[in-house]
Amino acid sequence: MPISFLTKSLADHLSRLVGLINPDRVFVLVDNNTRRLCLPRLVEGNTQLAEAKVITIGATDSHKTLESLAHVWQSLSEGGATRHSLLINLGGGMVTDLGGFAAATFKRGIRFVNIPTTLLSMVDAAAGGKTGINFNGLKNEVGCFCESEAVIVDINFLLTLDQQNLRSGYAEMLKHALLESESMWAEHLRFDLENLDYTELLNLVNQSVGTKQRIVSADPHEKGLRKALNLGHTVGHALESLALEKGRPVLHGYAVAWGLLCELYLSAKHMGFSTQQLHQTAAFIRQNYGSFDFSCQDYETLYDYMQHDKKNLGGEINFTLLGGIGDIKLNCHLTKEDVFESLDFLREGA
Ligand code: GLY
Repeated sequence: MPISFLTKSLADHLSRLVGLINPDRVFVLVDNNTRRLCLPRLVEGNTQLAEAKVITIGATDSHKTLESLAHVWQSLSEGGATRHSLLINLGGGMVTDLGGFAAATFKRGIRFVNIPTTLLSMVDAAAGGKTGINFNGLKNEVGCFCESEAVIVDINFLLTLDQQNLRSGYAEMLKHALLESESMWAEHLRFDLENLDYTELLNLVNQSVGTKQRIVSADPHEKGLRKALNLGHTVGHALESLALEKGRPVLHGYAVAWGLLCELYLSAKHMGFSTQQLHQTAAFIRQNYGSFDFSCQDYETLYDYMQHDKKNLGGEINFTLLGGIGDIKLNCHLTKEDVFESLDFLREGA
């Protein structure tokens, strides 16, 4: 999965890449927002892409549906796509996941390139070959593993990204740092999310993508090591679902940050993770992500969500924990009381 980092012209880079792939037709998938805000950067002065057929779907996760997928298939079909065509996915994780799945399945598979436009998709969704849609009320319920031809990270898209979405992506970067090394973790805690230094951010994004690539290449189909990337997500997904159920949705990365706080607490209690590093990380998360609004009345519902996580095995909740920074412990099982205690820890800072 070649990943390129750009600081200059996206249109020029893409032009060269399309030349190498040499498709018979080019399609660009966008959502309502990226069509307006990002597509001009792609096509400016690029005659090849000026002729590409643009396919638009609704923005946000509520459009990651079978209907949107069918719309993409239909547009590819009507636009004369063949097995030698190329789909360029321009957007956040919703667009790259759905577009990847559309490409992986159309005529049993056409090539696709991901151009992530949010920090979250740059460091996570766009790379690693996971594609899919939500189905039957469940997130990413239907999909497949299929690698893109390339991922192009254009940091310039971050210049216009709002603070909340930036922090959301940063939570996944913090997770990667915790999985990698003490020095990477310390560098991430030093980074000032209030006053952004884009050169430093580019350096951290680069490291983060490196960690994800290292893990995914060792275990592309999530049989073992790739489960490490679930750190913070068992509790995080439950918090995200509860927030949605209460009609107060939170951004994915915020839920992951709070999930990390709980799962590092459990790591310290059961796996020997340093309490000092737990408190340093917790302070960073509380300062930058605030607190999650919930009470102990919600604990059973949250536990129920965790029990329905598709990554569980044999009816038990499967946690990824840490024995220390970079010391990954997979398939950990805990008691309900332990999980509730970690939720107390999350609430304590509120
Ligand atoms: N987002 C976690 C993974 O790609 O495995």
